Amino acid sequence: MNILVINGPNLNLLGIREPAVYGSRTYAELCQYVHQACKELGIACRICQSNHEGQIVDWIQAAYADGTDGIVINPAAYTHTSIAIPDALKAVGLPAVEVHLSDIATREAYRRVSYTTEACIRTICGKGFEGYRLAAECLREHVGKRAGGGIPC
Ligand code: DQA
Repeated sequence: MNILVINGPNLNLLGIREPAVYGSRTYAELCQYVHQACKELGIACRICQSNHEGQIVDWIQAAYADGTDGIVINPAAYTHTSIAIPDALKAVGLPAVEVHLSDIATREAYRRVSYTTEACIRTICGKGFEGYRLAAECLREHVGKRAGGGIPC
C-alpha cells in the first residue's frame, strides 16, 4: 500500500512556529515520525510540503495516476480557505484523511470551518504527530476493507 502525505503552508516551520500551539519538534522530526510509523504499519509513504495551494492541487492530481492508494493531508491554513483542494480530492476520488496537529475546534472561530472535511473519510485533530499515524492506520483499514468489499472506517 502506498500513501501520499501532503503538508500545507508553514508546517515546514514546525519547531520555530508557535511552540505553545504546535510543540517544539521540527518538521524534519515530523517526517521521521511519519516514515517510522508507516514502516511499522507496512505502508510505503511519500511526504511533501508546500506553501502554495496550486502545488498541493497538482500533487493530488498526480496521485490519481501514480499508484497512490490514499492521501493524508494537513492543508494547514488552506483548510479554512481553499475550495480547490477539496475539489481536487473529490475529483481524483482517492480516500483521504485530514489531519491537524492542533485542535482547530477549540481555537479561533475562523479555524472552525474546514472546507477539506467533506472530501475526507475522516478528520483527526489535536493529537499532534500521532494524528498522522492514526490517519495512515485509517487508510490502511479503509483500503483493506474496500478491497474486501467491506465498509469504510
Ligand atoms: C493546522 C491548523 C490550521 O488552522 C493552521 O493554519 C495550520 C496548522 C494544524 O495542524 O493544527 O497551519 O492545520
